[in-house]
Amino acid sequence: MSIAHRKHPDPLRLAIETAREAGAAILEAARLPLDIRQKDRRADLVTSADRASEAIVIARIREAYPDAAILAEESGASPGSSDERWIIDPLDGTTNFAHGYPIYCVSIAYERAGELLAGAIYAPALDECFAAERGGGATLNGKPIRVSTIDDLGDAMVCTGFHPADYARNGAHFGAISQVAQAVRRDGSAALDLAYVACGRFDGFWEFDLHAWDVAAGTLIVREAGGRVTQLGGAAAAVDASSILATNGRIHTALDDELERAGK
Ligand code: IPD
Ligand code: CA
Ligand code: CA
Repeated sequence: MSIAHRKHPDPLRLAIETAREAGAAILEAARLPLDIRQKDRRADLVTSADRASEAIVIARIREAYPDAAILAEESGASPGSSDERWIIDPLDGTTNFAHGYPIYCVSIAYERAGELLAGAIYAPALDECFAAERGGGATLNGKPIRVSTIDDLGDAMVCTGFHPADYARNGAHFGAISQVAQAVRRDGSAALDLAYVACGRFDGFWEFDLHAWDVAAGTLIVREAGGRVTQLGGAAAAVDASSILATNGRIHTALDDELERAGK
């Protein structure tokens, strides 16, 4: 199947260029006094940079793919007349961004007939752009990337994320995996956590209750880098699933089993 659509620009290129442009706008917004607001929860923030980034991404996508549906974190879902959908997190890791911690990114994915076909994750503070096209492999700043080859959970560095409001469940998982993995991190940007699995910095990542915009691009990038993505418990991954487990493939079952044990 050809990824490029008859009458539209190449989705991978559009995702990369748009993520880079929106990322530059985030850095620009950070130079001005930031308008930081709390959404429904203490740790759920939105800033002027989230809004500036989303406006750019939606404008570029509307211009190039006027018929496609769009799902974007800050403005929600807008239907389209084709079977295509763009899934956008304009700034993943907003709390990090608000504190000047450089682990944040723009995440853009392109889906056709429910299948993820292209995605880009750009971390502007680090100038790192992760990207993938279905069947075409994954890249970091244009160079091919692969998942790690670590096959023992005891040698693995894995990552997770959670809302403080859900600490009871996630705290138990975090504690349990800390006992069996070499290290556990909690970096604050699900999209970058997935990108870091794809390039071998992390050997695995799990999280509950994420949204499609957090995981869509990262899921494709991990798979194209040779990794495995499922729900916890092994069910097929879905962008709207209530959990995600992404690994280099080699530690997948071991990590899943330990998480299951910890959840009992
Ligand atoms: C958040 C980050 C974080 C994850 C949260 C997400 P946001 O996204 O991905 O790592 O733990 O669940 O909501 O709000 O910064 O776009
Ligand atoms: Ca997010
Ligand atoms: Ca966001």
